[in-house]
Amino acid sequence: MDRNLALNLVRVTEAAALQSARHLGRGDKNKADEAAVNGMRKMFDTLTIDGIVVIGEGEMDEAPMLYIGEQIGKATKDSIKLDIAVDPLDGTTAVAKGLSNAISVVAVAPRGCLLHAPDMYMNKIAVGPKAAGKVSLDGTVEENLENLSKALNKDISDITVTMLDRPRHRELVEKVRKAGARIKLFQDGDVAAAIATCFEDSGVDILMGIGGAPEGVLAAAALKCLGGEIQGRLYPVKEEEILRCKEMGLPNVNGLLTIDDLAKGNEIIFSATGISNGELLKGVVYYENNTAKTYSVVMRAETGTIRFIEAIHRLDKKPEYAK
Ligand code: FBP
Repeated sequence: MDRNLALNLVRVTEAAALQSARHLGRGDKNKADEAAVNGMRKMFDTLTIDGIVVIGEGEMDEAPMLYIGEQIGKATKDSIKLDIAVDPLDGTTAVAKGLSNAISVVAVAPRGCLLHAPDMYMNKIAVGPKAAGKVSLDGTVEENLENLSKALNKDISDITVTMLDRPRHRELVEKVRKAGARIKLFQDGDVAAAIATCFEDSGVDILMGIGGAPEGVLAAAALKCLGGEIQGRLYPVKEEEILRCKEMGLPNVNGLLTIDDLAKGNEIIFSATGISNGELLKGVVYYENNTAKTYSVVMRAETGTIRFIEAIHRLDKKPEYAK
């Protein structure tokens, strides 16, 4: 895959972040999301790719743009056929409330390489490179923490498990506490939380629990680049979701999804831009004279290169970012 696509993908997440960040703390999560979708869609339209959204903003009837199955880019006869996973705004509530950890995220891979699934829940377990291959969603919490403790050469009491702060995780929290590990809860944004397991300084060793399926695929793309591991299992909460999975070619809805089932191969590019401040990326900052700064990370699985990109945007020269 053309490595220059990586920079174009940064433009895509930057555009979403610049649009969405305008809505920080304004109490309207739909507007914040819509702005991110519009920004991302417009930038995608400028790329000569033959892309298709395989997992993202929901189905056509419920998502105005970037819905699952949507065609992306100005395809030419030479354009490479791509699967695209999108989350224009991971953290809609965070932006609406003016809280941290909102990012815009996208991943691309050759056609057929990213999981095609509905926008539903997924149970996940994710670890960094040292513990790759040592944990499993089929294992118990105790077994996984013991294996992680050996892989990281750390007492279980020094291991930090991160998970979304949700009532559905009450039992998981109890099990982790019983096993003796520490817990770091977060309000939103489990793509960034999965990525954090790959950076020792983040202070988190493992992500557990149920979040969005698109976020699971996006995290898998990032962890492919970083050498970590994630496993997922779709978690239907409605009968229609089981039906939709089958229609999309996933007959065994309860099957364990390995990192390769989520994001196959190594021709994967992942890009994320911060919207509000987070541990992975800073959010959009506005400066004098109608300028703004964005913080992004872009990675390629093929080479394992991880680039952190700070960009200054002259918004007066970009009418699309007008207030
Ligand atoms: P949205 O911005 O789409 O709301 O996602 C934020 C998020 O925290 C994700 O990172 C996570 O996967 C998902 O919500 C969990 O869903 P829920 O908020 O329903 O528990």
